[in-house]
Amino acid sequence: MPTVTEILETMDYGPAPEATGEVMAWLKARGSFGHYIDGAFTRPAKTFATANPATGAPLAEVAHGTAADVAAAVKAARAALPGWSRLPGHERAKWLYALARHAQKRERFLAVLETLDNGKPIRESRDIDVPLVARHFYHHAGWAAMLEAEFPGARPVGVCGQIIPWNFPLLMLAWKIAPALAAGNTVVLKPAEQTPLTALAFAEICAEVGLPKGVVNIVTGDGATGAALVGSEVDKIAFTGSTEVGRAIRKATAGTGKKLTLELGGKSPFVVFADADLDAAVEGVVDAIWFNQGQVCCAGSRILVAESVAGTFQHRLSARLAKLRVGDPLDKSTDVGAIVDATQLARIRDLVAQGEAQGAVLHQAPVGLPSQGCFFAPGFLTNVAPANIVSEVEIFGPVATLTTFRTPDEAVELANNTRYGLAASIWSENINLALDVASKVNAGVVWINSTNVFDAGAGFGGYRESGFGREGGREGMREYLTTPAPKALPEAEAGRLDAAPHPGPASRGPAAVDRTAKLYIGGAQKRPDSGYSYTVMAKGREIGLAALGNRKDIRNAVEAAHAAKGWGKATGHNRAQVLYYLAENLAAREAEFVARLKAAGVAKPVDEVALSIRRAFFYAAQADKFDGAVHSTKSSHVTLAMPEPFGVMGIACPDAAPLLGFLSLVLPAIAMGNRVVAIPAASMPLAATDLYQVFDTSDLPGGVVNIVTGAKDELAKVLAQHDDVAALWYCGGPQGRTSAETESAGNLKATWTFPNRDWRGGDGQGREFLLRATQVKNIWVPYGE
Ligand code: NAI
Repeated sequence: MPTVTEILETMDYGPAPEATGEVMAWLKARGSFGHYIDGAFTRPAKTFATANPATGAPLAEVAHGTAADVAAAVKAARAALPGWSRLPGHERAKWLYALARHAQKRERFLAVLETLDNGKPIRESRDIDVPLVARHFYHHAGWAAMLEAEFPGARPVGVCGQIIPWNFPLLMLAWKIAPALAAGNTVVLKPAEQTPLTALAFAEICAEVGLPKGVVNIVTGDGATGAALVGSEVDKIAFTGSTEVGRAIRKATAGTGKKLTLELGGKSPFVVFADADLDAAVEGVVDAIWFNQGQVCCAGSRILVAESVAGTFQHRLSARLAKLRVGDPLDKSTDVGAIVDATQLARIRDLVAQGEAQGAVLHQAPVGLPSQGCFFAPGFLTNVAPANIVSEVEIFGPVATLTTFRTPDEAVELANNTRYGLAASIWSENINLALDVASKVNAGVVWINSTNVFDAGAGFGGYRESGFGREGGREGMREYLTTPAPKALPEAEAGRLDAAPHPGPASRGPAAVDRTAKLYIGGAQKRPDSGYSYTVMAKGREIGLAALGNRKDIRNAVEAAHAAKGWGKATGHNRAQVLYYLAENLAAREAEFVARLKAAGVAKPVDEVALSIRRAFFYAAQADKFDGAVHSTKSSHVTLAMPEPFGVMGIACPDAAPLLGFLSLVLPAIAMGNRVVAIPAASMPLAATDLYQVFDTSDLPGGVVNIVTGAKDELAKVLAQHDDVAALWYCGGPQGRTSAETESAGNLKATWTFPNRDWRGGDGQGREFLLRATQVKNIWVPYGE
């Protein structure tokens, strides 16, 4: 026992271990766990062990879920669905409140169990994870009660398969289960194989509160169990985990009609400007990359510091690093606990070693690590070249890179130099600068002078290869709701697209077809790369020629669309002006368009043109009215939810309704600030190509709408595979829809695929088009001295 004088001299903390007695007794009493299916635990057959990563000691045996187990769970969830979804919202709310309260009652138990299974410091599981779990259930209980008023006409998606990772086991469960149940869905959840125990404790809570059987089912197992769940008869998959597995799930669900949300990896920038409160920013790094051992998808893993303060910042960061307490996760004064398992530890070591071999210098906390268990001393890497593996790849451990920048523009460029787009943290005492940078970074969540702040009331989710969909708040609720699918209408015959030689001026005799429509790229008419056109037929008659676009034309169109980025920054008012002008110009040429459609044999040409004009006015009106929200989250925080355009979108239009279908899709996309590459109806592309002059006379900047005519599915596939296309809408048959989703897995672009519909009524216009044309960025701005 040290004397008081000794303690005052060293100022060391004494050990402050959290008691584990209750949890260990619970584990001992259970022995081994089966799955929780239909309100009861199954008898475990084949099992695997889950262990404490801080000591290596086994904690429990857990069942290894087979495809049959998954099928049984899905069957139970399916059987429970009618009863649960038909309950009045306020009744479902009562269950969610009960779950919240019971989780709260067991707060300490759950925190200790989480720390034992995962290795995270008890301070974090006790003060962050578990309180947020309760908060999610309380918050979503409210949504259940408000559902009919806030989402009129919406229905639950159905049975949801949910797959979660090991970094926030119980919190990710809450993020998934609370909104699903609030919306009236039933679920089958698979926790990560490394950390299944809190999910099983939660199953006991479900039983304890008497939740109707089958509403929540938990099946434990590894990736194979997860894959079985993806392949099962569920209506939706919600996944959080690695980008690699997310991509595989995107492919596996393509064409199945299963709704999908993916919350994947990140390599998030942490930007420190010269005028930042450097001490606060240093503390921010602690929360950004050393929190949860850096095993955080939105970790600020790339620290970018203004060159003029980089020396001071690094000095203070090293001083703070030296004070971190690394070790026993159950000790209440531990800052950094254990890595989740030996595999992840080996992965971190390997990546850091590769980074060092490529020239990076590692600065690690000067601490002695426990002699056993999975520990890695936190730190950061300097001298990191942009091409160094640690600049690009998610380490998912307590190690950030530290590099410098000179100007705000350079900071933004470096921040966006990643495949991911999950989060960003920006530090500056100049709010104008901070908000300007926040608007320019490609990330779903931006924290100003803060980091890793979460609340159930705000949406969370990424851009680009960080996935799509949001969790939390109103945005997250939408992912668990659906509206009745519009009635599918048959497509028009696309006809044969046989290449006809492109007629030169010499071939234009009086008997020749009256014209050849070119492509429209960057605001100019362009000959197709192939040099070929195809004959457009109507009622057995040749009515014109249209360019036969190919891969190269699509690439040129995407490039032109990127060059027109000013459109995304224009105010809603400016975009509205252009769209009003477009509507007026279309109206001025109404008779001409009617005659053209009539000659082409399009049904109800008068209606089609009149509705097209009306639609243009509608989206002109929406351009400055479809806006975001200020979420109610934590005290002293403004959380701005801003809908942003995706950037460059691909749109494959229906063959039926060649003018109205085209405009119904292109107009909402550009009204929201996107630039599009559109593939018009192959059967009657002239309806769209006739618009070139309307676009030109409406002051629509070149490159905002690009039109490539030709074989829809072939061209759509090129768009789907293109890494610089951020979202893809495909209207057409099942084969094309599947291909659009499968081929989009490369850069994980957001897709919307659907069969032809009635474009004349409510199915052809409305809020859904605007929601689909945008992604929400949540910007957190703290206030107060
Ligand atoms: P993972 O993506 O393999 O595991 C996440 C979950 O998916 C687990 O429940 C796992 O059993 C399940 N799963 C695995 N393969 C599957 C498949 N084919 N189909 C359906 N489900 C499947 O992540 P892992 O291997 O544990 O970690 C590897 C790396 O992934 C980490 O080093 C980290 O970089 C990243 N990661 C990112 C997370 C995030 O929150 N974004 C969370 C976990 C890992």
